[in-house]
Amino acid sequence: MSISRPKGTMDLLPPLARPGPLQSQAAFSRILHSAGQVLNRAGAQAIATPILESRQLAEHGVGQSSDIVLKEMFEVRYQGGHGDLILRPEGTASVVRAYLENGLKQLPAPLKLWTSGPMFRAENVQKGRLRQFHQIDYEVLGSDQPLADAEAIDLMWSVVQVLGLGQAHLKVGSVGDPADRERYRAYLRELLSPAQERLSPDSRRRLEVNPLRILDSKAPADQELLSELAPQNLLDFLGEEAREHLDAVTGYLDSWGVPYQLDPSIVRGLDYYQRTAWELHHGGIGAKSALGGGGRYDGLSELLGGKALSGVGWALGVERLLLALQEEQSLQEPELGSALYLGALTEAEQPAVLALARELRALGTTEFAYRPRPAATHQREALRRGARWLGLIGPEERGSGRVSLKDLASGERWETGAAQLAAQLGWAAGRDTSR
Ligand code: HAM
Repeated sequence: MSISRPKGTMDLLPPLARPGPLQSQAAFSRILHSAGQVLNRAGAQAIATPILESRQLAEHGVGQSSDIVLKEMFEVRYQGGHGDLILRPEGTASVVRAYLENGLKQLPAPLKLWTSGPMFRAENVQKGRLRQFHQIDYEVLGSDQPLADAEAIDLMWSVVQVLGLGQAHLKVGSVGDPADRERYRAYLRELLSPAQERLSPDSRRRLEVNPLRILDSKAPADQELLSELAPQNLLDFLGEEAREHLDAVTGYLDSWGVPYQLDPSIVRGLDYYQRTAWELHHGGIGAKSALGGGGRYDGLSELLGGKALSGVGWALGVERLLLALQEEQSLQEPELGSALYLGALTEAEQPAVLALARELRALGTTEFAYRPRPAATHQREALRRGARWLGLIGPEERGSGRVSLKDLASGERWETGAAQLAAQLGWAAGRDTSR
């Protein structure tokens, strides 16, 4: 019997397995670390919410007419359950729920939060499109200022800059205020209804519920009709306030030199957006998939039963960042480190090896052999594990407190006192420089 992982999921492998970039746990962690640093430095606070959420949260938050809720939800079955639990498909609704539920309104506003973790969507699996994927999610709650949108976009841009992605590009637009969208929906219905038999079955249904979704459709029939009818854009339907908001956001981006392209066709796949909406694309991962997306969602809190609360934020897909880094070949090979491998030559030195290893671990990465072995065997094992240093204690060193040390990179060897060893490896007290 061989049991394999579910379709659309990934295993991330340790450095020693020398995985390709897409399966590298080290590269994955580096992305989270770099993003976290950018966001922490901007004053964002880390938060974590459960992977299990209520179905209601997704239905009210992400939206009844979204593909995510209609077709892609993972429902959780359990003893005594009533279909009320799901695996969260995204993070924004959860962060807003947690804000409301835990009274975070008491904290200074605007409140910047960030989180990361796995999300679940039962999608058709393809390159960059998984069923369990990971997002880095940034949300600002309690500000309706365009500066909050602009700062959010700038921070998303900063994350991809820090990661060294040179081929990412931002597309910024607006989905307007609810009234603007209503006028635009009416326009689309009027335009498309006479030709509705040419629409795909999905889009014919969308015509009533949410004709904006038709613009996003990948069905060839829909695309053909759209290119024939060439509908006006939602941007042409923006009211004065939404237009001013967008101008202010792009004004900030211009003044900071953040490059972006104004994209009138941005609609986004989630129902909660209002006004600013944007996506971050990358040539290397295909035009249909984005590295990340975000926008303003001032009405979301009320959809979840809360009081009015402004919000704006974004999410980046970690696996797609890995894909983009791979395409640009800018993934550094994870260094196997400068770890020390300690071994005893005979059983009599094993206690000294264990004691030294336990002490050194406060300063740097130290592994030890579980059994005494000849020096050549220890060296082979140290190399296989990617260690930089080999420290051996044998009958000659026993009782003298000395260690025979070898730099596996240069081949240089010397004897040193156990107490001086850390300093000789360049391990300063309190600082792990080894990995
Ligand atoms: P989203 O556009 O649905 O937005 O997802 C954001 C990012 O998550 C995508 O751009 C992509 O990188 C990644 N992603 C989404 N689905 C998949 C998948 N099936 N496989 C791999 N990666 C995927 C949101 O989720 C919003 N919550 C973003 C947001 C935050 N808006 C405001 N605040």
